[in-house]
Amino acid sequence: MSLGKDVNFEEPLQRRFKGKTVLITGAAGGVGSETARAFSKEGARLVLCDLPSTEPKLKQLVTVLLSLGSPTVIYVCGDVTSVEDVKKSVQHGVDKLGGIDILLNSAGIAPVAPLQLTDEAMFKTVQDVNVYGTFLMMKYTSNQMIKSEKGGVIINMSSFLGMKGGDPLFAYTASKFAVSGMTRAAAKSLAKHNIRVCAIAPHMLEGDLADKVNDDLAELMSLGSGNQNKEEVKAAVLAGGLQEVPLGHFGQMRDVAGVVLFLCSKESSYITGVVLPVDGGATA
Ligand SMILES: NC(=O)c1ccc[n+]([C@@H]2O[C@H](COP(=O)([O-])OP(=O)(O)OC[C@H]3O[C@@H](n4cnc5c(N)ncnc54)[C@H](O)[C@@H]3O)[C@@H](O)[C@H]2O)c1
Repeated sequence: MSLGKDVNFEEPLQRRFKGKTVLITGAAGGVGSETARAFSKEGARLVLCDLPSTEPKLKQLVTVLLSLGSPTVIYVCGDVTSVEDVKKSVQHGVDKLGGIDILLNSAGIAPVAPLQLTDEAMFKTVQDVNVYGTFLMMKYTSNQMIKSEKGGVIINMSSFLGMKGGDPLFAYTASKFAVSGMTRAAAKSLAKHNIRVCAIAPHMLEGDLADKVNDDLAELMSLGSGNQNKEEVKAAVLAGGLQEVPLGHFGQMRDVAGVVLFLCSKESSYITGVVLPVDGGATA
């Protein structure tokens, strides 16, 4: 059988999320925006949330997502560490789109500092954004999901550093272990409401966040080794990171987006409480 040469294999064959509303935090970032694109192609309505400073990016993203097939996209600027902002974001989803079916908690920060260089304020800030912010979003979105009696899915962003120790990112590692723990605990308490809760644990993904982390790691290594050649030190950092990955290459944002969609689909309806590595085998 010959398939016409104009068949576009990039086109999704299904529109699994038609009629579903997805709220994404950190939507202006790498994982958030790529996953928003993937959901749009499959017909989901979207509520994009990120800090006010990202508003120009969010506006641009809205135009792209509408062109990809999403019937409705709105954005809400706010901080996930603010109870008021979190309530406002969820309420927007209810008022404008009839409620949230899927939540992706992708807002996060990843400063580089081992234990001895982690100051108290930085430690608290990382836990505030990565842990408290994820907690608030899970709490207020699941309240609404319970009230609607329609169930739902919550996906949290952990990390391979939420599964094994990583001292160069001490506060971040602590926060991602907490995200993994909150995921498992919430999966148990929300199962009776037909709400599934899972987390994704990527290794380094090609993008802005990893670039910044690698620059900061190179700075740290340079201080420790006395080697002032930044390019050489960064190359060593990247080579070291790659050595941890049996598949031999870093992940792409779309690798995560594909797994988020799978975990939110009917195909995974018997999966909850997992922290799924998307890491090329790094934690195998
Ligand atoms: N990129 C990676 O290599 C990688 C690997 C493992 C885990 N992760 C996790 O995946 C998630 C997304 O990563 P990414 O690569 O998209 O990062 P990113 O830096 O590109 O995006 C993060 C987004 O979160 C937003 N944000 C930060 N603080 C916020 C706050 N207080 N309130 C609301 N929004 C806030 C930022 O504005 C940004 O748009 C993060 O939780 C990260 O820890 C990323």
